[in-house]
Amino acid sequence: MGYETIRVEKRGKVGLITLDRPKALNALNAQLISELSAALDSFETDDRIGCIVLTGSEKAFAAGADIKEMQPFDYPKSYMSDLITPWERVSTNRKPIIAAVAGYALGGGCELAMMCDFILAADTAKFGQPEITLGTMPGSGGTQRLTRFVGKSKAMEMCLTGRMMDAQEAERSGLVSRVVPADDLLEEAMKAAEKIADFSLPVVMMTKESVNRAYETTLAEGIRFERRLFHATFGTEDQSEGMTAFIEKRAPQFRNK
Ligand code: CAA
Repeated sequence: MGYETIRVEKRGKVGLITLDRPKALNALNAQLISELSAALDSFETDDRIGCIVLTGSEKAFAAGADIKEMQPFDYPKSYMSDLITPWERVSTNRKPIIAAVAGYALGGGCELAMMCDFILAADTAKFGQPEITLGTMPGSGGTQRLTRFVGKSKAMEMCLTGRMMDAQEAERSGLVSRVVPADDLLEEAMKAAEKIADFSLPVVMMTKESVNRAYETTLAEGIRFERRLFHATFGTEDQSEGMTAFIEKRAPQFRNK
């Protein structure tokens, strides 16, 4: 499929998606979200892909939902067009997605990064939910996910004032897993993705599902869910290979079965 707003590559077992609307700082319009969903679908069903990296440009991961596209909307149009629902495809993808963020991740850009499984930030990254300055509010999970990541006080301040946080503050407050020099961002994200893609894919997917369950349920239910998946890993050839290889002091050869 030819894409106009993203670039899509396979690098070994890693699927790399680069948001590519430079003139609009990667603002997320309906076309971009539709192309992103299609690319994610194709990586999800491609057995050779074990991990996905989602990135933007040096200046912007994404500066938010496309304001020019939304500006003429009234309530019925906004409700009927259901602009945001297709974004959820990012959070429902079953394979791990790493957001590699440099520059602005604002509004829907910050929300898109938070839909991924973890965020690696360049030291140039800036995160914010500035929707309040436009007379609206976060519409793609910002009030919910940011609050879970950084706690009520900081999320409330960011959503109510539109203040941006830099990469260091984002790391301190748990929004991003690590900060790296901007020049190393893609290389570091690819290294992490290649590492994940070399593990057993079914076990990677079960692990992702289990960590995500922590956001959706009570501790007791989450632990029960984790235990079921832990037991399920013993039904894979990869568990047998991984433990045997450890005992035989050799590298495991996972077959993703
Ligand atoms: N939508 C549409 N176009 C955007 C955009 C957006 N979110 N962000 C930037 N652009 C466009 C600008 O309009 C400009 O286009 P023109 O050259 O045609 O004028 C181009 O990108 C470059 O932007 P700037 O000239 O503004 O660049 P800057 O370096 O001076 O400022 C910035 C950068 C601080 C990120 C600024 O562009 C900005 O504030 N952008 C808007 C951020 C924002 O409010 N995001 C939230 C959007 S609403 C949302 O996301 C809702 C939701 O939760 C789903």
